[in-house]
Amino acid sequence: MRRPASIAPPRGKLGVLTPGMGAVSTTLMAGVELVRQGASLPVGSLTQMGTIRLGKRTEARVPKIKDFVPLADLKDLVFGGWDVYPDDAYQAASKAGVLDSKDLSKVQKFLKNIRPMKAAFDQSYVKNLHGKHVKKGKTKFDLAEQLREDIREFKKKNKLNRLVMVWCASTEVFMKPEAVHKDLQSFEKAMKSNDPAIAPSMLYAYAAIAEGVPFANGAPNLTVDIPALEDFAKSKYVPVGGKDFKTGQTLMKTVLAPAFKARMLGLAGWYSTNILGNRDGEVLDDPGSFKTKEESKLGALEYILQPKIYPQLYNNFYHKVRINYYPPRGDNKEGWDNIDISGWLGYPMQIKVDFLCRDSILAAPIVLDLALFMDLAQRAGMRGIQEWLSFYFKSPMCARELYPEHDLFIQSMKLKNTLRWMMGEELITHLGAEYYD
Ligand SMILES: NC(=O)c1ccc[n+]([C@@H]2O[C@H](COP(=O)([O-])OP(=O)(O)OC[C@H]3O[C@@H](n4cnc5c(N)ncnc54)[C@H](O)[C@@H]3O)[C@@H](O)[C@H]2O)c1
Repeated sequence: MRRPASIAPPRGKLGVLTPGMGAVSTTLMAGVELVRQGASLPVGSLTQMGTIRLGKRTEARVPKIKDFVPLADLKDLVFGGWDVYPDDAYQAASKAGVLDSKDLSKVQKFLKNIRPMKAAFDQSYVKNLHGKHVKKGKTKFDLAEQLREDIREFKKKNKLNRLVMVWCASTEVFMKPEAVHKDLQSFEKAMKSNDPAIAPSMLYAYAAIAEGVPFANGAPNLTVDIPALEDFAKSKYVPVGGKDFKTGQTLMKTVLAPAFKARMLGLAGWYSTNILGNRDGEVLDDPGSFKTKEESKLGALEYILQPKIYPQLYNNFYHKVRINYYPPRGDNKEGWDNIDISGWLGYPMQIKVDFLCRDSILAAPIVLDLALFMDLAQRAGMRGIQEWLSFYFKSPMCARELYPEHDLFIQSMKLKNTLRWMMGEELITHLGAEYYD
């Protein structure tokens, strides 16, 4: 990829479209409006609160990221979405139960005006959902055409300059790449013949790319992670990325595992279990959707610990992930980890992590950052997979010949160096030899 020669300024309004208007999406919408009102802080958002060091440590140049790269301003964001339930964003947020009523009441009018468009949905891909607010069409291709029309209509109605799409809908059943995912021609043919290898999420991704709209996937579904759509995105100069927001337990995993490896501590086993009671938890109670999530959550440790390179420390470590639907907890998930590590001479030790987190509170700022960075990437002419945004994902997409980078600190460095690179600033290697001449 070449360094952008210039970055178009973020003129006009930016539409943020989310397939899925559930807990995560409505927490994002309500949160951005609360921040715009000056009623809350955008905690957890790197684009809003983060800084970036430029040049030498002695130069004291540490601007805010949003003052360094030309990001869209929060005041210019316009939200829209699709859902299989017809609830407006206020009703959906109230049902999701993430935000207190005192916060929701401040943004009630704003949220009430955001009504979902009819979803492209098929229950065979998400077994535990029964919504009726869905599009009708003879073929999957017809549904994709309707989504494209929705995007154009939304842009026109809201007088938008640009759009981005972030998948915030439910996790679909586990699917593997198949022959019809190989190239665009086979993919389009498969849409027209209603091939089961084409999931609804793929229709949104296809529609977004066809309309020149960047697409990020917040769930572990295959979706845009197939050659047909990757190549389509490249040919249309559209940035894409995924998969699966890295929020609670996996965030912790990708912080702790790099520390063990850095200190050459061994790992015998890592047992992770979760209880959560939101709609996401209910969907994941279906074995098909759980399998998709499980695969996504399991990948990180293997890539970080590299058992092939360090067989004495990491060969055959036992890794188990469970998610249990437990309604009383709602969105306030609890994630437990029992980690069996070993130190000097192989002596065993244990670490217990009990993260009482709030799923959507952790995810909402990620959606915001992805929307703003994807838009930036597009204005900079960066197309296809945006690996520098791996920081936000549990199963980062990357070039076919690469393995994904999961270590949070490498991801953070990669993200910040990409911003420096885009803006023509010196990259920071942390060598620092020049301070000791
Ligand atoms: N909250 C987190 O920490 C987190 C982390 C990683 C990934 N995720 C993923 O983000 C997604 C959203 O999470 P959530 O807690 O908001 O879930 P949610 O169940 O509250 O919301 C998802 C919404 O998507 C809708 N939906 C399902 N299929 C659809 C389709 N084809 N088109 C349009 N709408 C559709 C559902 O009706 C539902 O309202 C889930 O896939 C979840 O696994 C969340």
